[in-house]
Amino acid sequence: MEILKTELELNNWVKNQHANTTKIGFVPTMGALHEGHIYLVKQSVKQELATIVSIFVNPKQFNNASDLNKYPITIEADIKLLKKSGCNALFIPTIDIIYPSYFLPIKLDLGILDKVLEGPKRPGHFNGVAQVVYRLFKMVNPDKAFFGLKDFQQCKVIKLLASHFFTNIKIELCPTIRHKSGLAMSSRNMRLSDNGKKRASLIYKTLNVIKNLNNAIEPKDAIKYGKHLLAENNIEVEYLELANSKTLDSWIVWQPEKQNILLIAAYIEGVRLIDNIQF
Ligand code: PAJ
Repeated sequence: MEILKTELELNNWVKNQHANTTKIGFVPTMGALHEGHIYLVKQSVKQELATIVSIFVNPKQFNNASDLNKYPITIEADIKLLKKSGCNALFIPTIDIIYPSYFLPIKLDLGILDKVLEGPKRPGHFNGVAQVVYRLFKMVNPDKAFFGLKDFQQCKVIKLLASHFFTNIKIELCPTIRHKSGLAMSSRNMRLSDNGKKRASLIYKTLNVIKNLNNAIEPKDAIKYGKHLLAENNIEVEYLELANSKTLDSWIVWQPEKQNILLIAAYIEGVRLIDNIQF
């Protein structure tokens, strides 16, 4: 696996792939890699794409300075995992490469995506995601890019970005990879104690409980019950909502089959976790 640290090294790698008419598969990440990230990498490798991962903790998408400062950095372990996964190149840019002095932010109207769920809770977050992915897509110029449905609203932002600026890049959305307990894998889980991890597994269990009440009782009552189960275990819910998975607007009635999505953000031991379930 090649490790690329400068824009020139990246450009040369990209040029080489194009010269060999090899298609490029790209997995942008913020590092502290786990099996969820590796699943995305393996999807790209399986499709015989020259696979490149980026690791860049993007300050523009953190609305909270302490969250940014506490973001785990495990570069040596990340490199080991990537080497095993079949990844061809790792791009580790510095902040000046991503945001040079001449950097002009793109304008992208996020519409409803900035007004519901994560939007109002993390002001500026999705704009920051759009800026960094725009820069990375411009530099890497991949044929395909892979994202995880664990960050469902982010997937919508990426699709919107691609539809405006990168119609040549195919966006592949991949399922959420979970621990046996049901807990969605996340770099933030590293900050939880064993007891915190155990309690965190109740998040997905509760989403399933609510899902199974689908059409039996009203969504607001099912959600109220779910919130009660979480509160009993000292899990602080920031939001827990039913939405339509196509439009992402919030709903008070169950949606047609396969268009329901329950989305949650909750705090355990001060760590903010998100998850969702579609049905
Ligand atoms: P990060 O949180 O590192 O996630 C990188 C990619 O891995 C995202 O597409 C995310 O949805 C996916 N992912 C994370 N946990 C997953 C899981 N349990 N199962 C499947 N996929 C999972 O998301 C970001 O970084 C950043 O916002 C980024 C897109 C890199 C822009 O900075």
